[in-house]
Amino acid sequence: MRLDKFLAVSFIETRKKSRDYIKEGKVKVNGEVITEPAIEIKENTDIIEYLDKVVAYREKVYYMFHKPAGCITARKDADNITVFDFFHEDNINGIFHVGRLDKDTEGLLLFTNDGDFDHQLMCPERHVEKKYFFWALGSLDEEDRKRLENGISIGEGEALTKPAKIEVIKYGKYEELEKETDIGKFYNIESKHYNQPIVCGYLTISEGRKHQVKRMLKSVGCYVVYLKRISIGELTLDETLEKGHYRMLTEEEVQKLI
Ligand code: URA
Repeated sequence: MRLDKFLAVSFIETRKKSRDYIKEGKVKVNGEVITEPAIEIKENTDIIEYLDKVVAYREKVYYMFHKPAGCITARKDADNITVFDFFHEDNINGIFHVGRLDKDTEGLLLFTNDGDFDHQLMCPERHVEKKYFFWALGSLDEEDRKRLENGISIGEGEALTKPAKIEVIKYGKYEELEKETDIGKFYNIESKHYNQPIVCGYLTISEGRKHQVKRMLKSVGCYVVYLKRISIGELTLDETLEKGHYRMLTEEEVQKLI
């Protein structure tokens, strides 16, 4: 394998960056500084160092992506940009998204080339929790919250939802809260809604049914106007990661998930 590719898949993220680092003399192969990105190395036996730290070869890759609203979770779409449009071409080979988020939903989306990892996070028996932050038109009283927590019907012929956790942070009027949020950018709130009650909070679910959060909240009379996934299992979205950006998961973060 080429040295620049080794570094790109193992940790540096793009071949361009890998090549720059190699040319700058930051990379050693078996103790010797190498400044030629194209040399062939043996990924399983050669010792590669970046700034004197050994780089482990990672065939499996795991990315955290901060999905912005407005893109589709799919590889290709005739009418819309997709989550893959945000990835550098060096990084998309063989990777796929773990689960999906709606076009208007923001937040944490994982990518990998590791089928077992995907299965472990997605298989219903493991009940991996996903936490969402929402703004919704409507209000949530004690009874609504209990229904959400205990299981609720979200579609004819569908099983009740599994127990969930709901945490309300704030109630108010849309008009008052508009200043604090950028939800108006994603949804055309008509002026007739300006006096409506609005609620924001967190809903944590352990399933992954289509539009589940929106449908659960709709069942208690709340219309979601903003949705962001905050965490999956023990992994929380890195808030320093700007919308539309991605980074590799650290070894520790991968371990938290499997
Ligand atoms: N629930 C939804 O309603 N939408 C998402 O994108 C994710 C969970």
